[in-house]
Amino acid sequence: AQTERDILYKIHEIANDFFQTQLWGSEEGQMIAYSYFKERELRDDIIKKFQLGYSPEKKNAFTEFALDKAYSKEILEKSGLSIFPENTPSGIDRFRDRVVFPIHSFSGRVLGFGARILKNNVKTAKYLNSPETEIYHKSNVLYGLNQGKQAISRKNLCLLVEGYMDVVSLHQSGIENVVASSGTSLTTEQIKLIKRLTENVTILFDGDNAGIKASFRSIDMLLSEGMNIRVLLFPDGDDPDSFARKHPHDYVENFIDKEAKDFIDFKAEILLKEANDDPIKKAEAIRDIVKSVAFVKNDLKREVYLKEVSNKFGLSEQSLFNELQIHKNSAE
Ligand code: GTP
Ligand code: MN
Ligand code: MN
Ligand code: MN
Ligand code: MN
Repeated sequence: AQTERDILYKIHEIANDFFQTQLWGSEEGQMIAYSYFKERELRDDIIKKFQLGYSPEKKNAFTEFALDKAYSKEILEKSGLSIFPENTPSGIDRFRDRVVFPIHSFSGRVLGFGARILKNNVKTAKYLNSPETEIYHKSNVLYGLNQGKQAISRKNLCLLVEGYMDVVSLHQSGIENVVASSGTSLTTEQIKLIKRLTENVTILFDGDNAGIKASFRSIDMLLSEGMNIRVLLFPDGDDPDSFARKHPHDYVENFIDKEAKDFIDFKAEILLKEANDDPIKKAEAIRDIVKSVAFVKNDLKREVYLKEVSNKFGLSEQSLFNELQIHKNSAE
């Protein structure tokens, strides 16, 4: 028998086709959305590979289409794609006048969408995502996992980026072992999805304050799931998307490979810059690093990392070990 989940999957399949048809087959889609993708230098094959689409300006374009196909208001509302306010029986689309990124499950079913405004100066949120539904739980999903899973296994490495465009743009540059947490902070469930394919993660976040904060949180999460990590922030306002469009494939691949640091060097560089030779701040920086080391699950690895901290700062292993014990208990 067809369950409600089955119907929700079907509606998402239909919506995904609808948004792509709007992009490729309507004048509005070509004028507004296709030209937007071209401004961002996306090739047609990449637009198609990621099944990118366009949600029209009209307030109920998709809802009307789905109602015509005899889907009920109730189920459309549950899908998160339509809302039906009082006295609005024709409904309102959640996504309007945006380019649309379908979000796939590990096995390739469409679970939800992310959608971006077309002009940066508009006051509404830049990206809008599907709400939590029976089939979409944002903490269990990684954007790009379906398209990237083979490359992640083959390279035994997963690149972790912030955004939809970072994933798409790296693919275009021939780098396919990449997923995005899409703005939410990384969860244990998401890490477990990666862990099916590899234990190695390189964090590639934006070089802004939000990116640094997110990378610090992600480091501790990944370490406590037993992952091996390296970290790289992009220089001067670049993110993986803009960087990959500025440089050729080999350069980008090399840059990631050569510039990514282990988490100790990465945290040290950022925290010591902030400490600015102030000994108290320096001690706090070291404590912060040891706190991350405490998340390392494997005893041998943890000891090796502690030794690295000791060498790096010229501190005795004993005092670092004492500090580690304090945090280790709270990390467990
Ligand atoms: P572009 O401007 O299209 O290149 O996006 P970006 O991915 O570089 O954006 P940014 O670095 O600002 O944000 C990273 C990710 O956070 C995005 O890809 C989204 O997944 C998410 N995000 C950004 N802005 C918003 C927002 O306004 N609302 C929500 N829900 N998510 C957002
Ligand atoms: Mn950013
Ligand atoms: Mn960005
Ligand atoms: Mn960007
Ligand atoms: Mn290559």
